[in-house]
Amino acid sequence: MLVLGLETSCDETGVALYDSDRGLLAHALHSQVAMHAEYGGVVPELASRDHIRRAPRLIRSVLGDAGLDLNDLDAVAYTQGPGLAGALLVGAGLASGLAFSLGIPAIPVHHLEGHLLSPMLAEPRPSPPFVALLVSGGHTQLMRVDGVGRYELLGETLDDAAGEAFDKTAQLLGLGYPGGPAVAQLASHGDAYKYKLPRPMLASPTLDFSFAGLKTAVLTLVKRVGPDAAADIAAAFQLAVVDVLAGKAMAALKATGLTRLVVAGGVGANRELRARLDAEARLHRFRVFYPPLELCTDNGAMIAYAGALRLAQARMDGGFSVRPRWELAELPPVG
Ligand code: KG4
Ligand code: ZN
Repeated sequence: MLVLGLETSCDETGVALYDSDRGLLAHALHSQVAMHAEYGGVVPELASRDHIRRAPRLIRSVLGDAGLDLNDLDAVAYTQGPGLAGALLVGAGLASGLAFSLGIPAIPVHHLEGHLLSPMLAEPRPSPPFVALLVSGGHTQLMRVDGVGRYELLGETLDDAAGEAFDKTAQLLGLGYPGGPAVAQLASHGDAYKYKLPRPMLASPTLDFSFAGLKTAVLTLVKRVGPDAAADIAAAFQLAVVDVLAGKAMAALKATGLTRLVVAGGVGANRELRARLDAEARLHRFRVFYPPLELCTDNGAMIAYAGALRLAQARMDGGFSVRPRWELAELPPVG
């Protein structure tokens, strides 16, 4: 079963070929970061137009890399949501048109399910049940996963997502967009203990998060100590986020009695977070699983893979819709 996957929910055009027998055959990505950078964030209309420009070329390129052509495809998967409506429509329209013209199914995929299942593209593969920590630019959630489509929300952010906090902190420190990698890079030159920032909700008994106050605390600190202290502030901020994410993830494992943790989404690329989770997990005899580093942020591989598992939801009629807002727990179970 050869599935072409298209990811166009935000500012990366991701395309990949996943074969259910042979695994990931090829993947290609075009990041729009440079285009949006001068506006300090993603401009939705520009994002849609750029996806239209890039996607066909990327499809040709992954097929070429794998030595295959369109007629070899068995299905086309695309991100149906959540995400930017216009950007989603590009991928959904392209995938559905392509599938209809080839007489093969088009499979709508939930973007976060893609992230959630992406650690299955690495070895060793985690087997359910496990706790998933989903940390992206738009979401921060802890889920209990009992199988594909068997998701129970344990806790989530009440305001900003962890990635959003990185992006806003980057802006306050004059680092531009996107913020995560830039803040992490600057933090590596800073003293994380020089300034103390709050650990929002770390002590609360729930598994929910809150990052809006942390951003305000960073703003107050920047005003007080000035931009020369940027590296120390970045390090203090990163440590606060890592403390909260790791603390809540361990609490979720203890609360559920599960022993495996899966980390997915852009912030999962953060090295300090990974080091901390690994260290704490060793202490408690838990195991932590990550996607391959290049598949932490948005990509087509996770969409092709999730699509291959969700053939039952496919459409053959060329029709499509997008779901800019869509809860992961609404997905039907597979099998
Ligand atoms: O999963 P993703 O690519 O897109 C969404 O679905 O949102 O996540 C993007 C987010 C951005 O907020 C970005 O700043 C953050 O992930 N990010 C990082 C790192 N790499 C990306 N945050 C912290 N450290 C990183 N190394
Ligand atoms: Zn994402």
